[in-house]
Amino acid sequence: MLKHLLQISDLSREQIEQLILRAQYFGINSPNIAPSLLSKKGFLSTLFFENSTRTRASFELAAHTLGIKTINLDINTSSVKKDESMIDTFQTLAAMGCRYFVVRHSESNILEKIVSEHPALSSACHFVNAGDGHHAHPTQGLLDMLTIYQAQKKSEIDFSHLRVGILGDSVHSRVAKSDIVALKLLGCRDIRLIGPDSWLVEPEEYVTSQTNPLNKSVMEDLDVIITLRVQKERMAYLDLALLNDYVEHFQLTSERLKWAKPDAIVMHPGPINRGIEMTSEVADGNQSFILKQVSNGVLMRTAVLEAMSEVRTE
Ligand code: CP
Repeated sequence: MLKHLLQISDLSREQIEQLILRAQYFGINSPNIAPSLLSKKGFLSTLFFENSTRTRASFELAAHTLGIKTINLDINTSSVKKDESMIDTFQTLAAMGCRYFVVRHSESNILEKIVSEHPALSSACHFVNAGDGHHAHPTQGLLDMLTIYQAQKKSEIDFSHLRVGILGDSVHSRVAKSDIVALKLLGCRDIRLIGPDSWLVEPEEYVTSQTNPLNKSVMEDLDVIITLRVQKERMAYLDLALLNDYVEHFQLTSERLKWAKPDAIVMHPGPINRGIEMTSEVADGNQSFILKQVSNGVLMRTAVLEAMSEVRTE
């Protein structure tokens, strides 16, 4: 049973493996919604204080798959704009019957604070972090693990032999941090962070190697290349010269991709800044798993909501 999902480290390796296998199952079988889930009261509300296409839409689709009604609270037209506090907004929706909150916010760790300071609300409702600041994006981490698992084309989940490069702006990336924790939990021992020095997470936080610049030797035996969005909105300063320098030295091009294993997969959480993190040729090429990640988002979020609902669909 999953009460909340605020960060990947809330999960054990076994739970992550179960979610991967369950999401994989949903990719093959349409769930028969258990009558007990349909008859359960309560709806899911998405509250996105930052923009989203993939995460919000896929949570709604996942909820509908399970027969859970959804309400998207449009923050810009809500009473948040009349200075209603976040906790009052949650309590108001909970009073109407909301039992699942899917929340994206620019402040890191904001849901941990809500959950720990409001035990009655957190006991009555499930909270899912849909991305908080530069801290965590756990369902993106999970769907990325599902995508890597599928690319291995093996029934067992074994990441111990994998070499994974994470290319770009990891210091501002909640996706990179969630991916690193998930990869480590699943046994991956070779995670290489590649990017300009000022964009790399602190090395002591993670057991990984760090590389600047992107070159043949760091790429040549990679199985997976996770490219990251340049997080312009989280940078105090980003000028054109810096961006041009990034494109020149770190952009994933077809020529640079040839340095990796021939069957290496290319991932990106989206949205892509085409022509910055990678060329369109790579984004749309046959090694790109980017749209697979998007489809997997629906499957993984279905598995997560099912685990929270305590009702097993068939
Ligand atoms: N990867 C991701 O979170 O995409 P959205 O911002 O579109 O939800």
